[in-house]
Amino acid sequence: MMGITYFRTAETLITGTGSIAQIGEQAKKLHASRVIIITDKIIRQTGLLSKVTEPLISLNIEMDIIDDVIPEPPFENLEQMITKIEGKGYDLLIGVGGGSALDITKVLSVMLTNKKNVRDMIGIENIGNPGLPTILVPTTSGTGSEVTYNAIFTDTRDMVKKGIVSPYLLPNVAIVDAELTLTVPPAVTAATGMDALVHAVESYTAIRADELTDGIALQAIKLISRSLRKAVYNGRDIKAREDMAMGSLLAGISLGNAGVGAVHALAYPLGGRFKVPHGVANSLLLPFVMKYNVVANLEKFSEIAKAMGENIEGLSLREAADTAVTALAQLSKDVGIPASLKDVGVTSTDIPSLAEEASKIDRLLNNNPRWLTVKEIKEIYEDAYGLVEESSTVLV
Ligand SMILES: [Fe+2]
Repeated sequence: MMGITYFRTAETLITGTGSIAQIGEQAKKLHASRVIIITDKIIRQTGLLSKVTEPLISLNIEMDIIDDVIPEPPFENLEQMITKIEGKGYDLLIGVGGGSALDITKVLSVMLTNKKNVRDMIGIENIGNPGLPTILVPTTSGTGSEVTYNAIFTDTRDMVKKGIVSPYLLPNVAIVDAELTLTVPPAVTAATGMDALVHAVESYTAIRADELTDGIALQAIKLISRSLRKAVYNGRDIKAREDMAMGSLLAGISLGNAGVGAVHALAYPLGGRFKVPHGVANSLLLPFVMKYNVVANLEKFSEIAKAMGENIEGLSLREAADTAVTALAQLSKDVGIPASLKDVGVTSTDIPSLAEEASKIDRLLNNNPRWLTVKEIKEIYEDAYGLVEESSTVLV
């Protein structure tokens, strides 16, 4: 039986090398006269912003820039920025940067139209009114934030990552231009690219996956698998960057609609407590969670292997599915992501509390193809720490 599903994405998606030049016209179409550009200091230093500001200047659109975004932002980052931008008459917010800058832009836009404390917006559909218009411009190929309707922040009170989820967070326009990613350093390219791959793999195998998201996710897996190594080791390879930009966008669209699962759930406590960058945490955990998930959907894992370019001819369905897990682990290793929790500052005594914390993230765990309780989550962390023998029940 086919269930009823919703499919949502940015109102307008503009892609292609050089597409950033259209940002001025897009701002005009949204009747913007006074724009605030939201970014971080690193982006500002790269000089990349001129590609955004010049088309606006040439159309006489007034603008200010705020570069206060910090990585893996806490709620305080939003609270501090809103005081600087409210009451200034801005009629369009343009977010330029990685996931943090884009998530902040999305939430600032609704903070400006809702007289509500941002902490009261945590959770699903807790925003009363639509926000001010937004244009989102990713400068990394990874988070997919430009097409998702959630935004993730760190709660410094309990060091837990919390999400704000509402269709009002979708932008009016997303501009995805590979040219903006050419100078992203290898380690960031690797972490963000693997995050995108995790979005594609997790949403493809998710409980909420449907026919619409399946095709999009598989294409994302194909593009990312064939080009991530090239993008990491030769950042100037525009073809590889284009594949990554498109792959990450497609993965974001799939994630935005089918959701993600246990990899993200297990990654969040690592981000919150150990400050492991989101992409690194996801990539590190991906092979271990998939080793556990694979039996829940052999057909889909065998399709993943195919999309990754693995030769599965003559293999049984089970063998083909396992090939996907091996290929994902190999890709993560090839792009230099640590393969053990030991490498990111976790000790074995941290595992029980990490598992306890991850087990509370029902929003994601309920969407994972295989049911996990705190016991299994602990086993997966132990496996990622190197504590589990190959013959363990984790493998079934
Ligand atoms: Fe992610």
